[in-house]
Amino acid sequence: MKALIQPLESTYDLIADALADRGYCILPQLLPPELNIALHRRVARLDDTDFQRAGIGRDLDFQLNNSVRQDQTRWLTADNPTDRAYIDQMADFRLAINRRLFMGLFDYESHYAHYPPGAFYKKHLDAFKGQSNRVLTTVLYLNPEWQADDGGQLLIYASDSETVIETVNPNFGTFVIFLSEQFPHEVVKSLRDRYSIAGWFRLQDPLQAPAI
Ligand code: OGA
Ligand code: MN
Repeated sequence: MKALIQPLESTYDLIADALADRGYCILPQLLPPELNIALHRRVARLDDTDFQRAGIGRDLDFQLNNSVRQDQTRWLTADNPTDRAYIDQMADFRLAINRRLFMGLFDYESHYAHYPPGAFYKKHLDAFKGQSNRVLTTVLYLNPEWQADDGGQLLIYASDSETVIETVNPNFGTFVIFLSEQFPHEVVKSLRDRYSIAGWFRLQDPLQAPAI
């Protein structure tokens, strides 16, 4: 894709303020519309064989658990120009947030997710203190003309895990950011195909840092 305009500095100011004050931020729009369109076209054209069944945990802890989550995922890779354009935008985002909040975000991993009709993801945390280097979660929604009765809402809970503080419809272009260790969240059963990109900014893994 051709070079794209980055979000405005004032938009990053607003995001940083929201993260500092509340720990999360919900934007109806963040990325250039032509990028959202290209990402949607790409994810909607992937077929079942391009996706993996999503699991819980990583590497040795990885397990498939149908009763917790039912989405299919596929990692973005820099060798695809559309993926690359998104990854570049997130690199800009990472630097902009680090400059404002000194969060020390080191890198970013992201995957497309497809929830077929009937799929959900039960209440969970993306990271547990001290057990993961994921610190900031992002979700970009890629669903044109989503209706409230299509289901598939993201529910964000207060850290006590009982009270729903936000209900987010997965509308085209909506971008959600939250502290990974702080907010339990779930995806309500979706009644139609639901597409998104979930991503995580990570701290440097101390085990992989070069010895000084
Ligand atoms: C996840 C997740 C939320 C969503 O992939 O960990 O919580 O709304 N996704 O897709
Ligand atoms: Mn999650």
